[in-house]
Amino acid sequence: MPSINDFLNTPVFSSSIARIDLELLLAHALKKNREFILAHPEREITKREGAFLLKIIAQRKKHKSIAHIIAKKDFCDLTFKVNRHTLIPRPETELLVGESEKKIKTQKLNTVIDIGTGSGNIIITLAKHLKNKKINYFGIDISSKALSVARCNAKKYNLNKKIKFITGNLLTPLSKKNFSQKTKTFIVANLPYLSKEIYSACAPDVKNYEPKSALYSSQEGLNHYKKLFQQIIFLQAQLNIKNILIEFSPEQKKKLLFLIENFFPNAKKQFIKDLAGKWRICAIEL
Ligand SMILES: C[S@@+](CC[C@H](N)C(=O)[O-])C[C@H]1O[C@@H](n2cnc3c(N)ncnc32)[C@H](O)[C@@H]1O
Repeated sequence: MPSINDFLNTPVFSSSIARIDLELLLAHALKKNREFILAHPEREITKREGAFLLKIIAQRKKHKSIAHIIAKKDFCDLTFKVNRHTLIPRPETELLVGESEKKIKTQKLNTVIDIGTGSGNIIITLAKHLKNKKINYFGIDISSKALSVARCNAKKYNLNKKIKFITGNLLTPLSKKNFSQKTKTFIVANLPYLSKEIYSACAPDVKNYEPKSALYSSQEGLNHYKKLFQQIIFLQAQLNIKNILIEFSPEQKKKLLFLIENFFPNAKKQFIKDLAGKWRICAIEL
């Protein structure tokens, strides 16, 4: 029977699939972690494991992402369940979480709303990291199927009672809710922001396996944020929103600034670059 080492060095696999991906697929097939794969090159692969491995390698060759094949993705210091109803959390979004944590702590905000929560990666990471603070958490998504995944992830981290997940369009599910006078709200949103052109140029891994409704937005990718800003103005008296942090696509900076200045003429704005040096996050202080 072939060993882990034999498999990793089989040219037909190693020439077409990245080494790290092969290791992750192997770990999945053997129900072990990647560290085990690296530490036990001599471990033999059983016939059954081999057959499953061939099946998932074929899926990878058809551009199914590793995260979709293994149904999970690491994000910050946690691991999230994902499926075809959720976006796969991206590394640049970790920056959004880091900046959110800073704002919530320094400004002592007590209500956190994550709009377009998907797998729940943002709100769950925030609730986990800020666990000793008295904060109300809400995760809203238009997709009830995505929210089922978010609820499952929250349960895994024992946060299912702490975070309220609600199905709905942007902030509308909160429009009839009564908030206390002491509410100081923080809004974080990684809404769909790809323009038609950028979405059509996406790799098949993305276009064939991730929901278009999680990625594409009309009006050069800014329609969702425009609608959100309209709702924020409408609900400001009720929610007392202090800060908004959003993720966007680098080429949108100028148009986004124009939108923000239109909707919130007195707000303080701060743009932040991601690790690749591209504009990615905008903080709006109302
Ligand atoms: C870019 S994904 C972000 C997912 C996750 N928050 C993350 O950062 O990985 C955008 C999410 O917004 C949701 N969405 C799209 N339109 C929405 C709307 N009008 N109201 C609420 N959520 C929406 C999608 O279902 C999707 O889960």
